[in-house]
Amino acid sequence: MSSNDNIVFRAEAGGALRGRVRVPGDKSISHRSIMLGALADGVTEVSGFLEGEDCLATIGAFRAMGVCIDGPEHGRVTVHGVGLHGLRAPSGPLYMGNSGTSMRLLAGLLAGQAFDVVMTGDASLTRRPMKRVAEPLRKMGALIETSPGGTPPLRITGKQNLQGIVYSMPVASAQVKSSLLLAGLYAEGQTWVTEPAPTRDHTERMLTGFGYEVEREGHTVGVEGGGHLRAANIDVPADISSAAFFMVGAAIAPGSDLTLEHVGVNPTRIGVVNILKAMGADITLSNERLVGGEPVADIRVRASRLRGIRIPEDQVPLAIDEFPALFIAAACAEGETVLTGAEELRVKESDRIQVMADGLSALGVEAKPTPDGMVIQGGALKDGRINSHGDHRIAMAFAMAALRAGGPVVIDDCANVRTSFPNFLGLAGAAGLQVEQVT
Ligand code: S3P
Repeated sequence: MSSNDNIVFRAEAGGALRGRVRVPGDKSISHRSIMLGALADGVTEVSGFLEGEDCLATIGAFRAMGVCIDGPEHGRVTVHGVGLHGLRAPSGPLYMGNSGTSMRLLAGLLAGQAFDVVMTGDASLTRRPMKRVAEPLRKMGALIETSPGGTPPLRITGKQNLQGIVYSMPVASAQVKSSLLLAGLYAEGQTWVTEPAPTRDHTERMLTGFGYEVEREGHTVGVEGGGHLRAANIDVPADISSAAFFMVGAAIAPGSDLTLEHVGVNPTRIGVVNILKAMGADITLSNERLVGGEPVADIRVRASRLRGIRIPEDQVPLAIDEFPALFIAAACAEGETVLTGAEELRVKESDRIQVMADGLSALGVEAKPTPDGMVIQGGALKDGRINSHGDHRIAMAFAMAALRAGGPVVIDDCANVRTSFPNFLGLAGAAGLQVEQVT
């Protein structure tokens, strides 16, 4: 089945979320486990791997470049590393599906190879901006072409001598930072990247875990080319971005008491917890521990009255994937919620500002999109039909909205839920959301 089939979800109104749930593995860490495992010397064993289409696209790309990868089976993957210079030319274009992370990170990694490669993607990925990686990579000496609009396909010509650069990113993007650090592994000298605000630091942590030295000075990180990666075992925590739908569901649905187990709570990812707490959510973290260099905790959420807030801009990069869910929380809160400084939401898998505002309006919520955010008046939600525009996170967010809607919420174009959360319907159903796929 292709990702373009119109899968329709129907969520019944009401209910509560209760019990314990372990959502699938972290998408960012799963991608990186394959990338770094492939480039390492030795065999990397991964557990808790996210078997979603995005991460499978990354596996497919490395298999096409000659890397032997066993699995995934029940979240276990074995990557037989080929070393930094062991990749081989693929026989055709690498298809990245819906996955911006695969394409942007691989752009940097592939810029340093001795072969040419073309990367393509689905309709959504083909609209997403790639200049943000292509431009700095060119400064490093990469030969990389986009379409005239700066979008995929990406054509990378190999055998270039990359040079380290000092680069200050105009947007706070972990994908751009990671792409440049991966290119930096192949560059002569040092590559330094400065971010305007902290973004997820999994690449830095994982490079360190694979024995590669990463230097940090404030908002700047650097690597020096010419080293080696040593295979490492990775235990992928549950994805806080997937847990976010359940956190919001439990916060808004009266009678809920839900614990999300083994969730990654890296400080660069916990904006959703901070924002929900500021809205009055009842959230407690327990069993906090470090797993393979990443902080992990169980997160308990009990229903409470939420109030609208002005979301602090410094939380935006720390919650960048969670705004579809957070907008649902805002719609169920008392008073006004104002988001600013989040123009990046317009270039995610969909334009998440417009698509969420349209969906909220369809449910009778006053939601005013602005160029860089949204103003939402909390109130009653009615039943309605939502177009998710093929965006996995929009689909899952509106499924949770049904918990507080006056009637069923029907959501079109949900096939891409399997890019990040293959068993969403099963887990949501087990927790107490009445949701099913109707076509
Ligand atoms: C990701 C970084 C974020 C995020 C994406 C995954 C990553 O993108 O939205 O889902 O794994 O590095 P940006 O860095 O473009 O904000």
